[in-house]
Amino acid sequence: MEKIYVITGATSGIGKALVKYFSKDNKVFAGFRNRKYENELKEIGAIPFYIDMENENSIADAAGFIMSQTNKVDTLINVAGCVVAGAIEMLPVKDIKNSLI
Ligand SMILES: NC(=O)c1ccc[n+]([C@@H]2O[C@H](COP(=O)([O-])OP(=O)(O)OC[C@H]3O[C@@H](n4cnc5c(N)ncnc54)[C@H](OP(=O)(O)O)[C@@H]3O)[C@@H](O)[C@H]2O)c1
Repeated sequence: MEKIYVITGATSGIGKALVKYFSKDNKVFAGFRNRKYENELKEIGAIPFYIDMENENSIADAAGFIMSQTNKVDTLINVAGCVVAGAIEMLPVKDIKNSLI
């Protein structure tokens, strides 16, 4: 039975591989932040959506788009993540806050 997947970071690496794999038999919403990948994701058979994980409004818009297309999500795979590495006392507070969105 077809499942609904939402995959962020879908334009390269493990995210792109997962989109290719799951799009064969399922409905896959594939997140991109660079518009040059939008058509490629369509050609794979996924439904592309714009998302920038560092922008709260963009995340809300992406969720709104997905909810307008489906009434359920079976699996969310958040490949796109934000990490701030370093000694905590040396990290700018702004960078830490951005990584917590
Ligand atoms: N590869 C490894 O050995 C390894 C090891 C440990 C952990 N990880 C973690 O596993 C995850 C996947 O690794 P990978 O090698 O497949 O990574 P990757 O090839 O660099 O792919 C990352 C994906 O996330 C997207 N992305 C990054 N920042 C984003 C943001 N702020 N908003 C929206 N999309 C964003 C990228 O889009 P753009 O094309 O727009 O940049 C890309 O599609 C990463 O979080 C990585 O840190 C990887």
